Amino acid sequence: MSQVIVYWSGTGNTLDIANKIKGDLGCDIFNVTEANVDDILKYDTIILGCPAMGAEELEDAEFKPFYDELIANAASKNIALFGSYGWGDGEWMRNWCDEVKAYGANLLNDGLIVNGDSSQIVDSEYESFINSLK
Ligand SMILES: Cc1cc2nc3c(=O)[nH]c(=O)nc-3n(C[C@H](O)[C@H](O)[C@H](O)COP(=O)(O)O)c2cc1C
Repeated sequence: MSQVIVYWSGTGNTLDIANKIKGDLGCDIFNVTEANVDDILKYDTIILGCPAMGAEELEDAEFKPFYDELIANAASKNIALFGSYGWGDGEWMRNWCDEVKAYGANLLNDGLIVNGDSSQIVDSEYESFINSLK
């Protein structure tokens, strides 16, 4: 089964988590600025990473335009979500998960959220995230 990570990261935390996931799954990885929606839709499973930005929102200049185009064409696709956050409680991820489901995609997990970089990963949460992708 083909898997790909597409991420946006401003200060490197989401990239750090993305690299850990890539290391464990051995999948392809693209910065969203280098990703093409049509090419990404060819993968069986699409793993999207974006931190909480704005006020509990996805990054709107680079990630959101890509994501909006992708998700509109991703009905029944396997999707997994992850990202780093700071001072919030993960609201951006809950909203993101709800939206992916509303588009009819097959959301594989509740989204991996990490308060900082990969050193802050909660092992049990990471394990269940990775297992949902195996
Ligand atoms: C402009 C901006 C908006 C942010 N908004 C939120 C937010 O709404 N909720 C939150 O928990 N963290 C917020 N953060 C914190 C980031 O999510 C956090 O620093 C994260 O680790 C950044 O990930 P990155 O290194 O991959 O860019 C914001 C950070 C910035 C710069």
